[in-house]
Amino acid sequence: MRVLVTGAAGFIGSHLSQRLLARGDEVMGYDNVNDYYDPALKEARLARLQGQAGFRFARAGLEDRSAMERAFTDFRPHRVVNLAAQAGVRYSLENPQAYIDSNVVGFVNILEACRHHGVEHLVYASSSSVYGANTKLPFAVDDSVDHPVSLYAATKKSNELMAHTYSHLFGLPTTGLRFFTVYGPWGRPDMALFLFTRNILAGKPIDVFNHGHHRRDFTYIDDIVEGIVRTLDHVPAADPSYDFGQATPAASAAPYRLYNIGSDRPIELMRYIELIEQNLGTRAQCNLLPLQPGDVPESHADVAALRADVGYAPSTPVEEGIRRFVAWYRDYYGT
Ligand SMILES: NC(=O)c1ccc[n+]([C@@H]2O[C@H](COP(=O)([O-])OP(=O)(O)OC[C@H]3O[C@@H](n4cnc5c(N)ncnc54)[C@H](O)[C@@H]3O)[C@@H](O)[C@H]2O)c1
Repeated sequence: MRVLVTGAAGFIGSHLSQRLLARGDEVMGYDNVNDYYDPALKEARLARLQGQAGFRFARAGLEDRSAMERAFTDFRPHRVVNLAAQAGVRYSLENPQAYIDSNVVGFVNILEACRHHGVEHLVYASSSSVYGANTKLPFAVDDSVDHPVSLYAATKKSNELMAHTYSHLFGLPTTGLRFFTVYGPWGRPDMALFLFTRNILAGKPIDVFNHGHHRRDFTYIDDIVEGIVRTLDHVPAADPSYDFGQATPAASAAPYRLYNIGSDRPIELMRYIELIEQNLGTRAQCNLLPLQPGDVPESHADVAALRADVGYAPSTPVEEGIRRFVAWYRDYYGT
């Protein structure tokens, strides 16, 4: 199968590309390798892919319609996974325009390209942040998500809405995955595990928001990749008997699905920090701070639908996931 993976120089996209190549798919990565965080880390992820048979790469932005058209014309992907986006909740308060450019304009370009090139299935990244101010736990795809607390979340919710229109109007099969705090080797430097590890090793204090009372459904990268691949292989079909009188946000008469993808085992932030400390053999100096604007205090994914439909079964305990991250970090940075 030929699979176009946007965001292939990113954390999740590079792991997914590895996995698809390993099973014999051809992969075209599409990424602008921007400097939201250290581009050297993105280049290093790419370098691991670039030597492999079956991999090619387009260095371009989602906003660039002619570059996207070229990529689709040259590669003729059967399926597409859209992971490229402006990620991060806090940065959306600083630079809202970047979110509109990549996540809204860029996403429409992906939808249009998939429509005009007869793509069999588009899988795209949404986010647990769409649950915003919700307090009912675990978060379920049938819950209302009309109260986003960051522009990032609003762009992800808008992707789900736009995808539905393309599934409905043009019969484009689409599946949205709401990721819950993904972590692991080759991770993102703007996320807690990376920031904490770096500061603890440098003997610097770490900022612990919400006084450490966050609970997060931390999900190990291999479990996420397994879920994406299973989802990619499970193309949603139209359902003419769908009853709009009993409509749920997660399904439709159109070939459209929406799932949570998390670990289903949330843990306290302080426990997460303890595990990092144990692996580093050093105590952290914690700077306890209030909840940040745009942050949600707790996340817990209800993954029943993904289990039922594709046999998703996340299996990596956080103790093992953090051990593997710390081992990778020490090796990569030579610390
Ligand atoms: N990591 C998580 O915990 C998490 C949680 C929820 C949702 N997500 C979503 O999953 C997806 C992948 O996340 P990630 O953690 O791998 O992030 P990442 O930032 O590591 O990867 C995204 C990649 O997309 C590229 N990119 C960004 N804007 C682009 C554009 N306009 N054109 C082309 N390339 C562009 C970046 O250069 C980067 O390499 C994103 O859509 C993100 O919003 C991630």
